[in-house]
Amino acid sequence: MAKFIIEGKQKLSGEIEVYGAKNAAIKMIAGACLFSGKTVLENVPDILDIQKIITILEFFGVRFLRNGHTLEIDTSNMTLGDPDPKLVGEIRASIVLVGPLLSRFGKVKIPHPGGCMIGSRPIDLHIKAFKDLSVKVIENNKFYQFEAPVNLSENKTSQVNFKKISVTGTENILLYASNLENQDTIITNAAIEPEVIDLIKFLKTAGAEIAVSKREISIKGKKNLSPVRYRVMPDRIEAGTFAILAAATKSDLKILNLVPNHLESLLDKFKIMGIQFEINDNSLYIKTSPDFQAISINTGEYPDFPTDLQPPMGILLTQAQGRSMIKENIFDHRLEYLKQLEKMGAKIDLIDTKQAEITGPAKLSGIKLDSLDLRAGATLLIAGLVASGTTEINNAENIDRGYEKIEDRLKRIGAKIKRVL
Ligand code: EPZ
Repeated sequence: MAKFIIEGKQKLSGEIEVYGAKNAAIKMIAGACLFSGKTVLENVPDILDIQKIITILEFFGVRFLRNGHTLEIDTSNMTLGDPDPKLVGEIRASIVLVGPLLSRFGKVKIPHPGGCMIGSRPIDLHIKAFKDLSVKVIENNKFYQFEAPVNLSENKTSQVNFKKISVTGTENILLYASNLENQDTIITNAAIEPEVIDLIKFLKTAGAEIAVSKREISIKGKKNLSPVRYRVMPDRIEAGTFAILAAATKSDLKILNLVPNHLESLLDKFKIMGIQFEINDNSLYIKTSPDFQAISINTGEYPDFPTDLQPPMGILLTQAQGRSMIKENIFDHRLEYLKQLEKMGAKIDLIDTKQAEITGPAKLSGIKLDSLDLRAGATLLIAGLVASGTTEINNAENIDRGYEKIEDRLKRIGAKIKRVL
């Protein structure tokens, strides 16, 4: 287990680049399995979660060649494999292999997918959605088996309605239904996160016919989708994490290679708080704002405030003037990191598992902590940079899941951080 050691209170400045979106790239790697041949993805971050999905797919005979941020995926010799259940259990995104593998092989058996420990993470919405498309699903306590229907009547239209919006649920059905010849599928109450829209663009480049209108996605299934070359969108959560890092450490920082529209809900909050920023095409300049005001955060599905930026926002609110509120509406247990900030000196009132009040500004002091999950880990990194003294963060691997070589990038803007193995 690696750890990060941070000396806080350094002045940060300069430029930091945002890499490709984890939660888009993983789904496109899965999408490449829909067709036989070589797909090339550009702007793929070199992070643990991507390495894990690659290792899982190697069990299926998929071959990968990485050159920097360009990833070639060769599915020519793909067969139905039997992935290591432990590995599948480590990443939630392994669930999106079901759609492409089912489409390509007619059946797939997969162990229960895992991911960050941020609340119960069932897959009932995925199962119900596949059943709506006449897929047979057999469950036991170790794995799920999905079997595609053999004789589908021509030109059928099926409807999948999500009773609760699910990002990977929507993506799984998109991946499966795009490749169903002569079958039309309409998804209602669909997720429209930018990563879902980027996956749709990827599939359309491969020849799929997909239309989006508000929360309804219509798919005209076709065979003969073909391998493509595609550039993954910038990671909006990484961009937001860096913007919050700049504001929390009261730094002047230019964040490069992002899509400003994707950060609208965060920047709206910055405006109200009095955090100064400037947008230029695909960069965001956060200016030193000595004082900023408390605010309420309510997480929700896009375009509302993203749950993945809620923990980084939590550390920012410890430095705001007055009483802030956080309400987490997506996951049941995503406020645990607040207990750690409290140990550093933050003034937190944890009302229940989904709501908290934060009073600022608080003086934070460095201590030894464990990174609980990916975004909570990134939050502790920011906390360590805000705090006085030394902060030690165990389980650096949780942060490596989603942020590539984070210590090198932070060092380049003036942070004092080292990784200890
Ligand atoms: C995706 O998770 C992301 N992961 C998460 O990113 C992100 O936090 C989340 O969407 C919300 O934006 C990937 O894309 C790999 P959901 P996903 O299905 O798809 C409940 C990160 O830090 N639900 O949209 O798993 C669920 O419990 C992360 O990068 C069911 O009840 O999230 C939650 O309350 C972590 N049954 C809500 O729906 C199901 O079958 C939304 O979850 C599925 C989900």
